[in-house]
Amino acid sequence: MDLGIDLGTATTVVSDGRRGIVFDEPSMLLLRPGGGRRARILAVGREAGELVGRAPARFAAVRPLHDGVVTDLETARLYLRAVLARAGRRAWSPTRAVIGVPADATSLEVRALLEAAEEASIRPVTALDDAVAGAVGCGLDPLERRVHLVIDIGGGSAAAVAFCYGGVLAQRTSKVGGIEMTGAVARYLREEHQLLVGELEAERVKTAPTAETDGPLVVHGRDGATGRPRLVTMQPAEVTTAVRPVVDEIVRALGGCLDDLPPQALADVLAEGVLVFGGASLVPGLPQQLETALGLPVKPAEEPLTCVAEGAARALRNRPLLAAYGRN
Ligand SMILES: Nc1ncnc2c1ncn2[C@@H]1O[C@H](COP(=O)(O)OP(=O)(O)OP(=O)(O)O)[C@@H](O)[C@H]1O
Ligand SMILES: [Mg+2]
Repeated sequence: MDLGIDLGTATTVVSDGRRGIVFDEPSMLLLRPGGGRRARILAVGREAGELVGRAPARFAAVRPLHDGVVTDLETARLYLRAVLARAGRRAWSPTRAVIGVPADATSLEVRALLEAAEEASIRPVTALDDAVAGAVGCGLDPLERRVHLVIDIGGGSAAAVAFCYGGVLAQRTSKVGGIEMTGAVARYLREEHQLLVGELEAERVKTAPTAETDGPLVVHGRDGATGRPRLVTMQPAEVTTAVRPVVDEIVRALGGCLDDLPPQALADVLAEGVLVFGGASLVPGLPQQLETALGLPVKPAEEPLTCVAEGAARALRNRPLLAAYGRN
């Protein structure tokens, strides 16, 4: 199997070079702690997510990644194995892969991820910046003699990376992303509608408005004063208002990337526009807010949730690209 793997803080996506997306689920793992012996995996992905808050206390639901980097080698190895089994890997089939890593991952963090992958029988394995992989997934060529600027806004982080002709020119990252936006929606509902909502409901409200459904949203929660169940209707534009402070913070952190670009590079970006992807880039109003703040045209990706995995799978067959941008 030739795979592109995007191990995100929020979502894990795996693309098979031939079959397309073969796994796309929350980055979540339910473990039975080993107590001295090896821990056992009980569920991964959506199944594990559904058991959060329901499973007996002796089982541990864990997010195997923090900010997109491996914190526990053994857990990462178990997780990768389980994900690949779900993606249809047979125990004996040789597996090669390119794995996306956050732009600001240190060499040690990259090494830990690659080691976990090798121990999960993925060989050879190369790491590639999420931003570069996503660009490839959207059809850009990072080896071109033209500067591309991409912005990836995920669950736990955001990054702006400018690259050209096989090398990164400038980058900025932020530890704020979609998870913070969910918190901002919950805060907004409490302050503006005196409604208390849980994280799941805030997440649902945040992701509900799309181009097709622009009618009012019905939100379920508890009354802030009485504690009784209550319904509130909310306009989709309020979601934009609610997340604006978080988007502002992301823009402040990433905007500096432009200051590091020479004038000719800026001219390229002005002509081509900034490519934006990652799940949190789908929050309503984000492209407009980015355009205003950066003063550059913004182009939302067609497949913002899967382009990193697709691009990683494509990069696997592009030796010059991996030689230039691969990290190991
Ligand atoms: N339609 C939508 N509107 C708003 N937000 C969305 C939408 N769909 C997904 N999201 C948000 O996108 C985030 C997940 O995006 P993504 O899968 O790109 O992150 P990730 O790669 O797992 O995280 P990271 O890159 O930070 O490690 C979540 O916070 C989710 O709520
Ligand atoms: Mg990501």
